[in-house]
Amino acid sequence: MSHYKVFQWATGVVGKSALKGILRHPKLELVGVKVYSEEKEGLDAGEIIGTKKTGVIAQRDVEAVLKSDADCVVYCPLPWSPDDICQILEAGKHVVTPCPYFYPFVQTPDIADMIDSAARRGGVNFLSAGCNPGGIAERFPLTFSGWCNQIDRIRMTECGDCRTYSSEGVMKLVMNMGATAQEAEGNPLKEMLAKNWFESIDMVAEGLGTRVTSYDVEHDYIFANQDIETAVGIVKEGTIALNHYRHTGQTEAGVEIIQEQIWYIDDIRQTRLQRKMDIPRESGWRIALEGDVNLNIDIDFPPELTHDERVAQGLSTTAFHCINAIPLLCEADGPGFKTYLDLKMIMGCLGTYEPRS
Ligand SMILES: NC(=O)c1ccc[n+]([C@@H]2O[C@H](COP(=O)([O-])OP(=O)(O)OC[C@H]3O[C@@H](n4cnc5c(N)ncnc54)[C@H](OP(=O)(O)O)[C@@H]3O)[C@@H](O)[C@H]2O)c1
Repeated sequence: MSHYKVFQWATGVVGKSALKGILRHPKLELVGVKVYSEEKEGLDAGEIIGTKKTGVIAQRDVEAVLKSDADCVVYCPLPWSPDDICQILEAGKHVVTPCPYFYPFVQTPDIADMIDSAARRGGVNFLSAGCNPGGIAERFPLTFSGWCNQIDRIRMTECGDCRTYSSEGVMKLVMNMGATAQEAEGNPLKEMLAKNWFESIDMVAEGLGTRVTSYDVEHDYIFANQDIETAVGIVKEGTIALNHYRHTGQTEAGVEIIQEQIWYIDDIRQTRLQRKMDIPRESGWRIALEGDVNLNIDIDFPPELTHDERVAQGLSTTAFHCINAIPLLCEADGPGFKTYLDLKMIMGCLGTYEPRS
Protein backbone atom coordinates (compact mmCIF):
# COMPACT_ATOMS: atom_id res chain seq x y z
CA MET A 1 0.00 0.00 0.00
CA SER A 2 1.28 3.47 -0.86
CA HIS A 3 2.03 5.53 2.18
CA TYR A 4 2.72 9.28 2.37
CA LYS A 5 4.59 11.47 4.83
CA VAL A 6 2.77 14.69 5.63
CA PHE A 7 3.79 18.03 7.18
CA GLN A 8 1.00 20.16 8.63
CA TRP A 9 1.54 23.90 8.06
CA ALA A 10 -0.44 26.09 10.55
CA THR A 11 -2.75 24.83 13.25
CA GLY A 12 -5.72 27.20 13.37
CA VAL A 13 -9.29 25.91 13.25
CA VAL A 14 -8.84 24.11 9.91
CA GLY A 15 -5.21 23.12 10.57
CA LYS A 16 -6.19 21.35 13.81
CA SER A 17 -8.89 19.36 12.02
CA ALA A 18 -6.33 18.52 9.35
CA LEU A 19 -3.97 17.20 12.04
CA LYS A 20 -6.72 14.91 13.35
CA GLY A 21 -7.43 13.76 9.81
CA ILE A 22 -3.76 12.99 9.06
CA LEU A 23 -3.32 11.04 12.30
CA ARG A 24 -6.35 8.83 11.55
CA HIS A 25 -5.75 8.30 7.81
CA PRO A 26 -4.40 4.78 7.11
CA LYS A 27 -2.22 5.95 4.22
CA LEU A 28 -0.71 9.01 5.91
CA GLU A 29 2.01 9.59 8.47
CA LEU A 30 2.48 12.91 10.28
CA VAL A 31 6.16 13.89 10.10
CA GLY A 32 6.06 17.54 11.14
CA VAL A 33 4.03 20.56 12.22
CA LYS A 34 4.84 24.16 11.36
CA VAL A 35 3.26 26.82 13.61
CA TYR A 36 3.46 30.60 13.79
CA SER A 37 2.66 31.21 17.45
CA GLU A 38 5.43 31.16 20.07
CA GLU A 39 3.06 29.48 22.54
CA LYS A 40 2.63 26.44 20.28
CA GLU A 41 6.32 26.06 19.42
CA GLY A 42 7.73 22.97 21.14
CA LEU A 43 4.32 21.42 21.81
CA ASP A 44 3.57 17.89 20.66
CA ALA A 45 1.00 17.76 17.82
CA GLY A 46 -1.23 15.73 20.15
CA GLU A 47 -1.17 18.53 22.74
CA ILE A 48 -2.23 21.05 20.10
CA ILE A 49 -5.36 19.06 19.30
CA GLY A 50 -6.01 17.69 22.81
CA THR A 51 -5.22 14.03 22.12
CA LYS A 52 -2.41 11.67 23.15
CA LYS A 53 1.17 12.62 22.28
CA THR A 54 2.43 11.76 18.81
CA GLY A 55 6.17 12.40 19.14
CA VAL A 56 5.90 15.12 16.46
CA ILE A 57 6.93 18.49 17.85
CA ALA A 58 5.69 21.82 16.46
CA GLN A 59 8.35 24.10 14.97
CA ARG A 60 8.26 27.67 13.72
CA ASP A 61 11.19 27.22 11.33
CA VAL A 62 10.23 27.13 7.64
CA GLU A 63 13.53 25.38 6.83
CA ALA A 64 12.31 22.41 8.90
CA VAL A 65 9.50 21.95 6.39
CA LEU A 66 11.68 22.43 3.34
CA LYS A 67 14.41 20.06 4.54
CA SER A 68 12.01 17.39 5.82
CA ASP A 69 11.35 14.12 4.01
CA ALA A 70 7.63 14.97 3.75
CA ASP A 71 5.88 13.99 0.52
CA CYS A 72 3.11 16.53 1.02
CA VAL A 73 2.45 19.73 2.98
CA VAL A 74 -1.08 20.63 4.12
CA TYR A 75 -0.87 24.42 3.94
CA CYS A 76 -3.50 26.13 6.19
CA PRO A 77 -2.34 29.63 7.23
CA LEU A 78 -4.15 32.93 7.23
CA PRO A 79 -2.99 34.99 5.45
CA TRP A 80 -1.67 32.64 2.78
CA SER A 81 1.23 33.46 0.49
CA PRO A 82 1.86 32.27 -3.07
CA ASP A 83 5.59 32.73 -2.37
CA ASP A 84 5.40 30.26 0.53
CA ILE A 85 3.48 27.81 -1.65
CA CYS A 86 6.12 28.03 -4.39
CA GLN A 87 8.95 27.61 -1.91
CA ILE A 88 7.41 24.37 -0.61
CA LEU A 89 6.73 23.06 -4.12
CA GLU A 90 10.28 23.86 -5.25
CA ALA A 91 11.56 21.89 -2.27
CA GLY A 92 9.88 18.85 -3.84
CA LYS A 93 6.79 18.57 -1.63
CA HIS A 94 3.26 18.30 -3.00
CA VAL A 95 0.97 21.00 -1.56
CA VAL A 96 -2.72 20.66 -0.74
CA THR A 97 -4.44 23.71 0.75
CA PRO A 98 -7.88 25.06 1.68
CA CYS A 99 -6.58 28.50 0.67
CA PRO A 100 -6.75 29.76 -2.89
CA TYR A 101 -5.88 29.00 -5.69
CA PHE A 102 -8.77 26.78 -6.80
CA TYR A 103 -8.80 27.71 -10.51
CA PRO A 104 -6.78 30.89 -11.05
CA PHE A 105 -6.12 30.48 -14.78
CA VAL A 106 -8.54 33.28 -15.77
CA GLN A 107 -8.48 35.68 -12.79
CA THR A 108 -4.78 35.62 -11.88
CA PRO A 109 -2.94 33.77 -14.66
CA ASP A 110 0.40 35.11 -13.39
CA ILE A 111 -0.10 33.32 -10.04
CA ALA A 112 -1.31 30.17 -11.82
CA ASP A 113 1.88 30.20 -13.92
CA MET A 114 4.07 30.89 -10.93
CA ILE A 115 2.63 27.95 -8.95
CA ASP A 116 2.63 25.64 -11.96
CA SER A 117 6.28 26.46 -12.74
CA ALA A 118 7.34 25.96 -9.10
CA ALA A 119 5.53 22.59 -9.02
CA ARG A 120 7.23 21.52 -12.23
CA ARG A 121 10.64 22.56 -10.91
CA GLY A 122 9.99 20.55 -7.73
CA GLY A 123 8.54 17.60 -9.67
CA VAL A 124 5.34 17.70 -7.57
CA ASN A 125 1.65 18.70 -7.71
CA PHE A 126 -0.48 21.49 -6.21
CA LEU A 127 -4.20 21.39 -5.31
CA SER A 128 -6.64 23.70 -3.51
CA ALA A 129 -9.49 21.75 -1.90
CA GLY A 130 -11.97 22.49 0.87
CA CYS A 131 -15.61 22.97 1.66
CA ASN A 132 -16.66 26.23 0.07
CA PRO A 133 -14.78 26.98 -2.10
CA GLY A 134 -13.35 23.59 -2.85
CA GLY A 135 -16.52 21.47 -2.75
CA ILE A 136 -19.87 23.26 -2.72
CA ALA A 137 -18.67 25.95 -5.11
CA GLU A 138 -17.46 23.72 -7.93
CA ARG A 139 -16.83 20.02 -7.33
CA PHE A 140 -20.38 19.10 -6.25
CA PRO A 141 -22.32 21.22 -8.79
CA LEU A 142 -20.11 19.81 -11.55
CA THR A 143 -20.74 16.28 -10.26
CA PHE A 144 -24.53 16.82 -10.35
CA SER A 145 -24.33 18.47 -13.76
CA GLY A 146 -23.76 14.92 -15.00
CA TRP A 147 -27.47 14.34 -14.36
CA CYS A 148 -28.49 17.25 -16.57
CA ASN A 149 -28.55 18.01 -20.26
CA GLN A 150 -29.64 21.65 -20.52
CA ILE A 151 -28.67 23.97 -17.64
CA ASP A 152 -29.89 27.59 -17.33
CA ARG A 153 -28.70 28.45 -13.84
CA ILE A 154 -26.50 26.96 -11.13
CA ARG A 155 -26.74 28.60 -7.77
CA MET A 156 -24.75 27.75 -4.64
CA THR A 157 -25.91 29.28 -1.36
CA GLU A 158 -24.10 28.99 1.96
CA CYS A 159 -25.90 30.19 5.11
CA GLY A 160 -24.83 30.06 8.67
CA ASP A 161 -24.82 31.52 12.11
CA CYS A 162 -21.07 31.78 12.66
CA ARG A 163 -20.99 33.11 16.23
CA THR A 164 -18.76 30.22 17.33
CA TYR A 165 -16.23 30.33 14.44
CA SER A 166 -13.03 31.36 16.21
CA SER A 167 -10.95 32.52 13.23
CA GLU A 168 -10.62 36.26 13.70
CA GLY A 169 -9.18 36.61 10.20
CA VAL A 170 -12.09 34.90 8.47
CA MET A 171 -14.78 36.52 10.65
CA LYS A 172 -13.45 40.06 10.61
CA LEU A 173 -11.29 40.44 7.52
CA VAL A 174 -13.17 38.18 5.13
CA MET A 175 -16.75 38.46 6.44
CA ASN A 176 -16.68 42.04 7.82
CA MET A 177 -18.24 41.07 11.17
CA GLY A 178 -18.12 44.09 13.50
CA ALA A 179 -17.05 46.47 10.72
CA THR A 180 -18.75 49.76 9.88
CA ALA A 181 -20.24 50.25 6.41
CA GLN A 182 -17.29 52.46 5.53
CA GLU A 183 -14.78 49.84 6.69
CA ALA A 184 -16.58 47.11 4.71
CA GLU A 185 -16.65 49.23 1.55
CA GLY A 186 -12.92 49.93 1.96
CA ASN A 187 -12.05 46.32 2.87
CA PRO A 188 -8.63 45.81 1.24
CA LEU A 189 -9.49 42.15 0.58
CA LYS A 190 -12.63 42.97 -1.42
CA GLU A 191 -11.08 42.68 -4.88
CA MET A 192 -9.11 39.57 -3.98
CA LEU A 193 -12.21 37.89 -2.51
CA ALA A 194 -14.18 38.58 -5.69
CA LYS A 195 -11.40 37.03 -7.77
CA ASN A 196 -11.41 34.00 -5.47
CA TRP A 197 -15.15 33.43 -6.01
CA PHE A 198 -14.81 34.09 -9.73
CA GLU A 199 -12.18 31.30 -9.81
CA SER A 200 -14.82 28.79 -8.72
CA ILE A 201 -17.30 30.21 -11.23
CA ASP A 202 -14.65 29.85 -13.95
CA MET A 203 -14.05 26.23 -12.96
CA VAL A 204 -17.75 25.39 -13.17
CA ALA A 205 -18.05 27.13 -16.55
CA GLU A 206 -14.96 25.48 -18.02
CA GLY A 207 -15.93 22.11 -16.57
CA LEU A 208 -19.20 22.48 -18.49
CA GLY A 209 -17.34 23.33 -21.67
CA THR A 210 -18.11 27.02 -21.77
CA ARG A 211 -16.53 30.23 -20.46
CA VAL A 212 -17.59 33.26 -18.50
CA THR A 213 -18.30 36.39 -20.52
CA SER A 214 -19.26 38.77 -17.66
CA TYR A 215 -18.95 38.89 -13.90
CA ASP A 216 -20.94 40.73 -11.25
CA VAL A 217 -20.55 41.32 -7.50
CA GLU A 218 -23.31 42.31 -5.06
CA HIS A 219 -22.53 43.02 -1.44
CA ASP A 220 -25.23 43.59 1.18
CA TYR A 221 -25.01 43.70 4.96
CA ILE A 222 -27.19 44.25 8.00
CA PHE A 223 -26.16 45.91 11.27
CA ALA A 224 -26.59 44.60 14.82
CA ASN A 225 -29.31 46.26 16.89
CA GLN A 226 -27.44 45.32 20.10
CA ASP A 227 -23.99 44.12 21.15
CA ILE A 228 -23.55 40.43 20.17
CA GLU A 229 -21.07 38.01 21.72
CA THR A 230 -19.04 35.85 19.31
CA ALA A 231 -15.98 33.60 19.52
CA VAL A 232 -13.87 36.52 18.23
CA GLY A 233 -15.23 39.09 20.68
CA ILE A 234 -18.21 41.42 20.97
CA VAL A 235 -19.68 42.73 17.72
CA LYS A 236 -20.97 46.16 18.63
CA GLU A 237 -24.44 47.52 18.02
CA GLY A 238 -24.54 49.43 14.72
CA THR A 239 -21.80 47.34 13.06
CA ILE A 240 -22.10 44.50 10.54
CA ALA A 241 -23.76 41.35 11.90
CA LEU A 242 -24.93 39.80 8.61
CA ASN A 243 -22.72 39.78 5.54
CA HIS A 244 -24.15 38.74 2.18
CA TYR A 245 -21.83 38.28 -0.81
CA ARG A 246 -23.23 37.34 -4.21
CA HIS A 247 -20.85 36.68 -7.12
CA THR A 248 -22.30 35.89 -10.54
CA GLY A 249 -20.89 34.79 -13.88
CA GLN A 250 -22.79 34.78 -17.18
CA THR A 251 -21.45 32.26 -19.67
CA GLU A 252 -21.22 31.99 -23.43
CA ALA A 253 -23.53 28.95 -23.25
CA GLY A 254 -26.20 30.99 -21.41
CA VAL A 255 -25.70 29.37 -18.02
CA GLU A 256 -25.80 31.77 -15.09
CA ILE A 257 -23.52 30.67 -12.22
CA ILE A 258 -24.15 32.22 -8.80
CA GLN A 259 -22.07 31.90 -5.63
CA GLU A 260 -23.72 33.29 -2.52
CA GLN A 261 -22.64 33.41 1.14
CA ILE A 262 -24.92 34.62 3.91
CA TRP A 263 -23.02 34.68 7.19
CA TYR A 264 -24.67 36.13 10.30
CA ILE A 265 -24.22 36.18 14.05
CA ASP A 266 -27.74 35.52 15.26
CA ASP A 267 -30.26 32.72 15.11
CA ILE A 268 -32.64 32.42 12.18
CA ARG A 269 -35.22 34.71 13.87
CA GLN A 270 -32.72 37.57 13.42
CA THR A 271 -33.99 39.50 16.45
CA ARG A 272 -30.54 40.99 17.01
CA LEU A 273 -30.38 42.51 13.51
CA GLN A 274 -31.63 45.93 12.43
CA ARG A 275 -33.60 44.34 9.57
CA LYS A 276 -34.36 40.79 8.52
CA MET A 277 -33.19 39.02 5.44
CA ASP A 278 -35.06 36.22 3.72
CA ILE A 279 -32.52 33.47 4.53
CA PRO A 280 -33.34 30.24 2.65
CA ARG A 281 -32.33 27.95 5.52
CA GLU A 282 -30.84 28.29 8.96
CA SER A 283 -27.47 26.81 8.10
CA GLY A 284 -25.77 24.61 5.54
CA TRP A 285 -25.60 24.73 1.79
CA ARG A 286 -27.98 24.52 -1.15
CA ILE A 287 -26.82 23.70 -4.67
CA ALA A 288 -29.64 24.42 -7.13
CA LEU A 289 -29.47 23.43 -10.79
CA GLU A 290 -32.20 24.75 -13.09
CA GLY A 291 -32.76 23.49 -16.62
CA ASP A 292 -34.38 20.47 -18.15
CA VAL A 293 -33.79 18.79 -14.80
CA ASN A 294 -34.35 20.90 -11.67
CA LEU A 295 -32.35 19.83 -8.66
CA ASN A 296 -32.09 21.22 -5.14
CA ILE A 297 -29.27 19.53 -3.27
CA ASP A 298 -29.30 20.50 0.41
CA ILE A 299 -26.29 19.64 2.52
CA ASP A 300 -26.67 19.95 6.25
CA PHE A 301 -25.67 18.41 9.55
CA PRO A 302 -28.14 16.43 11.72
CA PRO A 303 -30.41 18.74 13.76
CA GLU A 304 -29.56 16.89 16.98
CA LEU A 305 -26.02 18.32 16.81
CA THR A 306 -25.46 21.47 18.80
CA HIS A 307 -24.76 24.67 16.93
CA ASP A 308 -21.08 24.50 17.95
CA GLU A 309 -20.82 20.92 16.69
CA ARG A 310 -22.32 21.91 13.34
CA VAL A 311 -19.83 24.77 12.90
CA ALA A 312 -16.95 22.48 13.91
CA GLN A 313 -18.07 19.75 11.50
CA GLY A 314 -18.41 22.27 8.67
CA LEU A 315 -14.79 23.29 9.20
CA SER A 316 -13.72 19.64 9.48
CA THR A 317 -15.12 18.99 6.00
CA THR A 318 -12.68 21.63 4.71
CA ALA A 319 -9.72 19.89 6.30
CA PHE A 320 -10.80 16.33 5.53
CA HIS A 321 -11.35 17.10 1.84
CA CYS A 322 -7.70 18.24 1.71
CA ILE A 323 -6.43 15.23 3.65
CA ASN A 324 -8.37 12.70 1.57
CA ALA A 325 -6.96 14.26 -1.60
CA ILE A 326 -3.32 13.66 -0.58
CA PRO A 327 -2.84 10.12 -1.98
CA LEU A 328 -4.52 11.11 -5.26
CA LEU A 329 -2.45 14.27 -5.53
CA CYS A 330 0.80 12.42 -4.84
CA GLU A 331 -0.11 9.75 -7.41
CA ALA A 332 -1.53 12.09 -10.09
CA ASP A 333 0.21 12.51 -13.42
CA GLY A 334 2.31 15.57 -13.14
CA PRO A 335 4.05 17.58 -12.18
CA GLY A 336 2.07 20.82 -12.06
CA PHE A 337 -1.03 22.72 -11.01
CA LYS A 338 -3.98 20.36 -10.44
CA THR A 339 -7.68 21.09 -10.01
CA TYR A 340 -10.72 18.86 -9.59
CA LEU A 341 -10.92 18.76 -13.37
CA ASP A 342 -7.65 16.75 -13.38
CA LEU A 343 -8.02 14.40 -10.43
CA LYS A 344 -9.87 11.14 -9.88
CA MET A 345 -12.74 11.12 -7.37
CA ILE A 346 -11.68 12.09 -3.85
CA MET A 347 -13.05 9.62 -1.31
CA GLY A 348 -12.67 8.96 2.39
CA CYS A 349 -10.16 6.25 3.36
CA LEU A 350 -10.92 3.98 6.29
CA GLY A 351 -8.69 1.00 5.68
CA THR A 352 -5.83 -0.45 3.71
CA TYR A 353 -7.76 -2.67 1.29
CA GLU A 354 -6.81 -1.66 -2.29
CA PRO A 355 -9.71 -1.75 -4.76
CA ARG A 356 -8.89 -3.10 -8.23
CA SER A 357 -7.27 -0.41 -10.39
N1 LIG B 1 -11.90 26.43 1.33
C1 LIG B 1 -12.63 26.42 2.42
O1 LIG B 1 -13.72 25.85 2.49
C2 LIG B 1 -12.10 27.09 3.68
C3 LIG B 1 -12.87 27.07 4.86
C4 LIG B 1 -12.33 27.65 6.00
C5 LIG B 1 -11.07 28.25 5.96
N2 LIG B 1 -10.39 28.28 4.78
C6 LIG B 1 -9.04 28.87 4.72
O2 LIG B 1 -8.17 28.04 5.48
C7 LIG B 1 -7.18 28.81 6.11
C8 LIG B 1 -7.19 28.48 7.61
O3 LIG B 1 -8.45 28.85 8.15
P1 LIG B 1 -8.69 28.75 9.73
O4 LIG B 1 -10.14 28.80 9.97
O5 LIG B 1 -7.90 27.61 10.27
O6 LIG B 1 -8.00 30.12 10.20
P2 LIG B 1 -7.38 30.44 11.63
O7 LIG B 1 -8.09 29.66 12.68
O8 LIG B 1 -7.39 31.93 11.72
O9 LIG B 1 -5.89 29.90 11.55
C9 LIG B 1 -4.91 30.50 10.77
C10 LIG B 1 -3.53 30.10 11.30
O10 LIG B 1 -2.55 30.79 10.54
C11 LIG B 1 -1.38 30.90 11.31
N3 LIG B 1 -0.86 32.29 11.31
C12 LIG B 1 -0.77 33.17 12.34
N4 LIG B 1 -0.16 34.30 11.94
C13 LIG B 1 0.12 34.13 10.64
C14 LIG B 1 0.76 34.94 9.67
N5 LIG B 1 1.23 36.15 9.96
N6 LIG B 1 0.90 34.46 8.41
C15 LIG B 1 0.42 33.24 8.09
N7 LIG B 1 -0.19 32.42 8.99
C16 LIG B 1 -0.34 32.86 10.23
C17 LIG B 1 -1.70 30.46 12.75
O11 LIG B 1 -1.13 29.16 12.90
P3 LIG B 1 -0.65 28.59 14.33
O12 LIG B 1 -1.85 28.67 15.21
O13 LIG B 1 -0.24 27.20 14.02
O14 LIG B 1 0.48 29.43 14.83
C18 LIG B 1 -3.21 30.46 12.73
O15 LIG B 1 -3.74 29.57 13.67
C19 LIG B 1 -7.53 30.29 5.85
O16 LIG B 1 -6.66 30.79 4.86
C20 LIG B 1 -8.97 30.24 5.36
O17 LIG B 1 -9.24 31.26 4.42
C21 LIG B 1 -10.87 27.70 3.65
